[in-house]
Amino acid sequence: MSEEPESADNPEMPDQANDSEAPDQPVNSDTPEQPVEAESTEQSAESELSDRETEPEESEVRPVSEPTYLSGREPHPMERRIIFRNVDREDWDPSLDRYVEDGGYEQLKAAIGMEPGDITGAVKAAGLRGRGGAGFPTGVKWGFIPPHNEKPVYLICNADESEPGTFKDRYIIHQDPHQLLEGMIISCLAVDAHLAYIYIREEFPEGAKTLEKAIEEAKEKGFLGKDILGSGFDLEIYVHRGAGAYICGEETGLIESLEGKRPYPRIKPPYFPAAMGLYLCPTIVNNVETLCHVKHILAMGAEEWSKIGTPNNTGTRILCVSGDVRQPGYYEVEVGKVTMGQLINDMCGGLRDGRELKAVIPGGSSAKVLRADETFTIGRGDEAREISIWDIPMDFDSLAACGSMAGSGGVIVIDDSRPISWVLNNINAFYAHESCGQCTPCREGSLWMKKITDRVVAGNASPSDIDTLEGVARNIDGRTICAFGEACAWPTESFVEKFRDELIGDTDPEMEDDLLNPEALTAAAHLQ
Ligand SMILES: Cc1cc2nc3c(=O)[nH]c(=O)nc-3n(C[C@H](O)[C@H](O)[C@H](O)COP(=O)(O)O)c2cc1C
Ligand code: SF4
Repeated sequence: MSEEPESADNPEMPDQANDSEAPDQPVNSDTPEQPVEAESTEQSAESELSDRETEPEESEVRPVSEPTYLSGREPHPMERRIIFRNVDREDWDPSLDRYVEDGGYEQLKAAIGMEPGDITGAVKAAGLRGRGGAGFPTGVKWGFIPPHNEKPVYLICNADESEPGTFKDRYIIHQDPHQLLEGMIISCLAVDAHLAYIYIREEFPEGAKTLEKAIEEAKEKGFLGKDILGSGFDLEIYVHRGAGAYICGEETGLIESLEGKRPYPRIKPPYFPAAMGLYLCPTIVNNVETLCHVKHILAMGAEEWSKIGTPNNTGTRILCVSGDVRQPGYYEVEVGKVTMGQLINDMCGGLRDGRELKAVIPGGSSAKVLRADETFTIGRGDEAREISIWDIPMDFDSLAACGSMAGSGGVIVIDDSRPISWVLNNINAFYAHESCGQCTPCREGSLWMKKITDRVVAGNASPSDIDTLEGVARNIDGRTICAFGEACAWPTESFVEKFRDELIGDTDPEMEDDLLNPEALTAAAHLQ
């Protein structure tokens, strides 16, 4: 069993006196619609990559067997399984022996011979973007660790997987834990971290045990611990179980929780924990799926890996489809190579008989809803084109251009059997429950929105309540400490904007008159 050190005894916990030296970064890694910056950094990384000779030769990588999958759980022909290659295999188990037999830890061996900067350079050149929600370029984030830093650097794997509609990381953890460990160890080599954590939510006890066992196995074989594979590089990885709060997925809330405190997200700036994170030291926080990609980038070489997917939206990603489709589940696809229509109709078997698509929430419950009958403009200049919801390519940039986001990859499909007030109320109930309560607009506003949609669902709302609902959401958006504010405001803002008539149809105009009637008001107050 891996046990993490108490923070008070942690030998790597630094003196915090020099914290003011940590530089601030001007962007927030949790805000999805930020520009993908640092082009010059990426360009220099590309040339750096082409100059180097340390990329693994193909012959260094052991051949791996062709997987066979459990009956009924075979990947769809439109999938391209890289991260989920070993998920649902009948010829597979999560042991280290099986992983090594299939070519596991070969990329770690190759990475040990590389310069750390070359690993980061490869990740930058590959164009890997974070799979945790914001789609921020991973290599660029790693590059934010202050140069000439004298404090310890930490790496944290965010396995909190809390976003409603998202269920991918848990399968990697349960079925292929060594893939994650190998990705993490290589990432630690890149950022020179000697202590790393996997922060996993309490609801995944089996996942935590599987990871702890995998860590022990890796240590026994010298892939982890002191002097990894004789390289002189030491690394410990600890599994830290959270208490099961959505806000612990927000990276600064996570860090506070890991430090043993209440998980109140930190005030920004600094925008990135890479500048000031765990114990106020440079810290890289990455999602499970993101960290797994790192080993495949080294295995294929950045150039080959970047040919997967579409420009600026490279690689594969796992889409989790839930809601009103015949075959909900996880589908690993090349980013941007599959449209919403292909995903829903071809891969997920379409909608139920007699049902029509009403809306899709494309990137987890925080993402703005897309109406089935909307048109969207994607592409710029001469390449701009108008498309329907069915033709939206499932990638970061296209979904942002359509006014929503790819987020955590949770695609929630809503057919015409669902009252929109019921869907929004469900989402609002989640956010009202999960607000950490640190800032007033979010704490009060999330509960207020939930109470209003409770009334809409119960038929006790007045038409003007819909305006109030919208006003509350707009007064949260942009006025909070962390991106939870947007996460809880965007569903309401977009649902009201796009389904105002339906929401008003669920209200009772007579309630408006009741607002002037003290007796009715008292009765309504009792109903809340
Ligand atoms: C309220 C909230 C919840 C979040 N939950 C998760 C989560 O469960 N898992 C995750 O990887 N990222 C989550 N994030 C995003 C993280 O803060 C962070 O951006 C991410 O872990 C970075 O990893 P990436 O760059 O690999 O995507 C959440 C963000 C917010 C604002
Ligand atoms: S926005 Fe909400 S979740 Fe984030 S710090 Fe403020 S109260 Fe907490």
